Amino acid sequence: HVTAAVLAGGVGARMGGGSPKQLLPLAGRPVLEHALAAFCAAPEVDDVIVLMVPEHLDEAREIADRTCPDRVSAVLPGGADRTATSAAALRALEHRGDDDLVLLHDAARPLVTPEVIGRCVGALAEADAVGVAVPAGDTVVEIAPDSGGAEVLRNVPPRASLRRMQTPQGFRLGVVREAYRRALAAPGLAATDDCGVVLDYLPDAQVRIVPGDESNIKVTNPGDVEIAETLMRVRGGPVAGPPRDGERHQEARG
Ligand code: CTP
Repeated sequence: HVTAAVLAGGVGARMGGGSPKQLLPLAGRPVLEHALAAFCAAPEVDDVIVLMVPEHLDEAREIADRTCPDRVSAVLPGGADRTATSAAALRALEHRGDDDLVLLHDAARPLVTPEVIGRCVGALAEADAVGVAVPAGDTVVEIAPDSGGAEVLRNVPPRASLRRMQTPQGFRLGVVREAYRRALAAPGLAATDDCGVVLDYLPDAQVRIVPGDESNIKVTNPGDVEIAETLMRVRGGPVAGPPRDGERHQEARG
């Protein structure tokens, strides 16, 4: 059994504005609706759960009801940070067996493709955990503050060995559950990456990396919705379908 958990518990502080970024309109539908539609349409996925900012649960339920009510098995409150939201998703699946699979996906990645979802689930046949990632186009460097607080270069890892992680990340439930059990017992956990939790807390687990997609961006900063709309147009349209009557396209933000 494969469950996709769409993580929409963040407030979108870097995006700013009045409502969480997963509710912003993108090509006439909320960002969350695009992500949800992609997993509902995936033949590998049996059901989908949504973890939403508690104050916006009603909006998430409305979106689920009109997108794919037959595939969405629960819309639940997320946690105070991403780790807590992932943990809430795993709690919601505690009745499932250790060999069942879960995909954890950022609601803020509305352009996830069927190919990426398929690659992630496919690789779980031979791995405990799977992350999707793309090569680092820029050189990525590690910095550190000097004694005066200015940023100085600390390390330049070879670019060929670096990847930029995306989601979904897929897991054998027994593996990610045990990693989170250990991680949550440790003080000060604040992971932005669930594969990283498995790597850190279950060192014997095999975490595989498969290709993501350059267009599978995370809507993070002002302007990213417009970039996502452009990528969607280039790609030939959204999975979620055309804009709904009465819903406006994203307007240029100042
Ligand atoms: N997320 C979540 N629960 C949280 C925080 C984040 O489910 N408490 C989700 C976001 O909704 C998003 C994904 O994790 O789909 C990636 O996180 P990020 O881009 O950091 O989203 P925000 O936390 O909303 O953004 P910001 O850091 O700018 O506040």
